[in-house]
Amino acid sequence: MTKPIYVLNGPNLNLLGQREPEIYGHDTLDDIEERLRRQAVPAGYDVVLRQTNYEGGVVSDLHEARTDAAAVIINAGAYTHTSVAICDAIKMLTIPSIELHLTNVHKREAFRHHSYLSPVVTGVIAGFGAAGYEHALAAAIRLLADEA
Ligand code: DQA
Repeated sequence: MTKPIYVLNGPNLNLLGQREPEIYGHDTLDDIEERLRRQAVPAGYDVVLRQTNYEGGVVSDLHEARTDAAAVIINAGAYTHTSVAICDAIKMLTIPSIELHLTNVHKREAFRHHSYLSPVVTGVIAGFGAAGYEHALAAAIRLLADEA
């Protein structure tokens, strides 16, 4: 059976739609999940979307993805800029991994310019708002097709 594509979300992303909408937009994580599922199914994939406010939760989700996912899309939120543990968990993946940000973190505060994830993922997508999730999914599906 084809493994699903995991879409992992870190802290504060449960409040998408309410959280600083002028920065992060009005779409909720549920809206995003619905669109991703509609996009994935015709390509033959299911989507498993997770969100946790805990660093260890993201690490555990990555451990699960290591064995159960075809590819991982990860918006680690603020942990992107702080977490060696998430970096180490991504390093253990042998499947495609995409770091995702709604905002262009390089246009924002200096503390958002460094990512512990970027050096260890397959690719990075940032600055396209909620549509970035769909771009990341398209990229993951393409990477998987190229592998086949
Ligand atoms: C974010 C950018 C991070 O700097 C921030 O802490 C977030 C969201 C983004 O999607 O643009 O929580 O990952």
